[in-house]
Amino acid sequence: MKAIKLAIVVTGLMIFSAVATLAMVNHGAEQFAIDGGSKGEVPFPHKIHQEILGDCNACHDVFPMELGVIKTMKAEKKLKRKQVMNKTCIKCHRALKSKGESYGPISCNDCHKKK
Ligand code: HEC
Ligand code: HEC
Ligand code: HEC
Repeated sequence: MKAIKLAIVVTGLMIFSAVATLAMVNHGAEQFAIDGGSKGEVPFPHKIHQEILGDCNACHDVFPMELGVIKTMKAEKKLKRKQVMNKTCIKCHRALKSKGESYGPISCNDCHKKK
């Protein structure tokens, strides 16, 4: 009897902590600007992407979850200039367009509002 009660309590705790961990995931800001070097800032709707894609790693396998990290990694030569732009952002938007699904901007001025 005691063993069964203990098992129930332990299972309950495991479920509780799993749910708590999920709720605690930091989603970051809903909207911010990415540093676009010489081309000025790129407004980025973070939350829209999180909701539509449902996969953090669509972007965060390339750079960690930290504001300003793309700029830092470019300065440290861990990312090439325009690498995220071409290999992450535009690559996905193009692929969606060719599949006939709703997609994000592909032309320069739709992302680079300045200049
Ligand atoms: C479409 C691309 C993309 C997806 C998908 C994405 N992120 Fe991000 N995320 C970014 C970019 C870009 C930055 C900022 C990088 C920079 O400023 O250099 C960022 C930054 C962050 C930050 C730091 C921002 C802050 O306000 O402190 C957190 C936390 C974060 N992301 C969490 C997540 C989580 C959790 C998911 C999945 C639910 C997710 N992201 C999905 C692109 C994305
Ligand atoms: C989907 C949005 C998007 C589109 C479309 C886009 N860019 Fe970018 N661009 C970015 C982002 C994000 C960065 C910063 C990250 C990086 O360097 O990969 C950037 C960075 C740049 C940089 C600066 C690189 C540096 O380090 O100084 C240049 C130059 C640039 N883009 C030119 C262009 C041109 C030209 C086009 C059109 C052919 C274009 N971009 C289209 C999002 C975009
Ligand atoms: C894996 C796919 C994917 C990646 C990676 C991705 N996007 Fe998108 N993006 C989308 C989709 C899907 C939409 C269309 C959302 C909609 O239906 O309005 C979109 C829309 C957008 C929009 C327009 C949002 C609006 O309000 O209409 C901007 C701006 C944008 N993306 C910028 C970026 C930038 C900058 C990056 C790179 C840091 C990026 N995206 C990376 C899939 C992606």
